[in-house]
Amino acid sequence: MRPKPFQVFFLLLSCAKDINAHTWVEQLSVIAPNGTFVGAPGYPRGNVLRTASDFSDTTMTFLIPPSSRANVTLVLPSDKLCKDTQQERTQTAGSPRLQANAGDAVALRYQENGHVTLPWNQPGKPANRGTVYVYGTTKPKVGEKILDVHGVWNSDGTGGDGRGVLLSKQNFDDGRCYQINSGNISQARQQEYPHQANQLMGADMWCQQDIKLPSTAPTSKLYTLYWVWDWPTLPGVDPTYPHGKTEIYTTCMDVDVMASTSQKIGNTREEGYVTGQDLNKAAIPSEFDNLDDVPVATGTTVHPSSQPSSAIPYAPESASTLYLTSTEVVRVITVTAWKTTEKTVTVGGCEAIPTGTPIPRGSKRLKRKDWMA
Ligand SMILES: *[C@@H]1O[C@H](CO)[C@@H](O)[C@H](O)[C@H]1NC(C)=O
Ligand SMILES: *[C@@H]1O[C@H](CO)[C@@H](O)[C@H](O)[C@H]1NC(C)=O
Ligand SMILES: *[C@@H]1O[C@H](CO)[C@@H](O)[C@H](O)[C@H]1NC(C)=O
Repeated sequence: MRPKPFQVFFLLLSCAKDINAHTWVEQLSVIAPNGTFVGAPGYPRGNVLRTASDFSDTTMTFLIPPSSRANVTLVLPSDKLCKDTQQERTQTAGSPRLQANAGDAVALRYQENGHVTLPWNQPGKPANRGTVYVYGTTKPKVGEKILDVHGVWNSDGTGGDGRGVLLSKQNFDDGRCYQINSGNISQARQQEYPHQANQLMGADMWCQQDIKLPSTAPTSKLYTLYWVWDWPTLPGVDPTYPHGKTEIYTTCMDVDVMASTSQKIGNTREEGYVTGQDLNKAAIPSEFDNLDDVPVATGTTVHPSSQPSSAIPYAPESASTLYLTSTEVVRVITVTAWKTTEKTVTVGGCEAIPTGTPIPRGSKRLKRKDWMA
């Protein structure tokens, strides 16, 4: 079902809603060797499209620890990794799985919802806007626990119970993404990364995490991806959270690994990213150029040194040494000007105008008629 223009119009203009919204993986796309998205997109388990009548952010966001937990830094061994609607490997009508070949590059796209362009809305958050992780497994579990996977599975497949691997870790801020608002970060990025507004993104530019499916992923099977956005509040900044706050969002999804490799779309990258291409369907070059081929975990090697973490109580001593609050950047360096908290900024509703910083003149705001058609 195609969204009606007025629905897109509403989504685009409802920036007050966007500011409060949180984030999930909305779409997956195979990336061709030249950096262009190809083929039909795929969707997470149990997806609810933004255009669905029963859609609200809470139909897709999954927060760990839950907001009902009194201790805001406590993650329990019983905490599930996937939202209830994403426990099983099932799709909803109109939101099929991504079909890809083993070894394909895949973009996971999500909206920044102001977390990149209006960073002053949440004091104490890391400059990279948190870290996003993608874990892969051929042996997912219903009832998978976050502490058995996150910070445990590694790129060698030797972490924890050895059922899965860490495929990717990068900054939430991919250096390009923005939503349309009057804040100076959005304004600068609108100039730097212009694109034709489309029905999916409107005039916004979604963020992405580019990964590579293992070239040894078994064909004619599902390969499961767990996306984890680790977005802690550091202690001692926001008086509401003197000891900081753990805030993690996840999306669980599967990919149909196709038997046929005749397509060969993403298996080679000799062409390289074509510069100057349409940013509506293009990978992030710094990510795309650095994709690693991670082996598939066998699930048979359990190293004695890495016990299942459900046996280890989650007990942070100080938030700066806790892995969940790590802001380190491992593999991908995106060139970006991250903004830390700016106390000089006033934010109200859709307005986010740093005091004393005029909105750049002649900024290329897309006209409504350009994307209403
Ligand atoms: C990249 O390759 C794909 C698949 O061959 C093609 O559809 C697309 O037009 C190419 N993109 C560019 C920018 O040349
Ligand atoms: C945005 O404004 C803040 C506060 O005035 C400033 O520190 C920062 O450099 C600006 N960033 C951009 C991208 O213009
Ligand atoms: C909250 O949980 C953390 C992590 O287990 C623990 O260190 C801390 O003492 C707890 N705080 C309270 C007030 O119980």
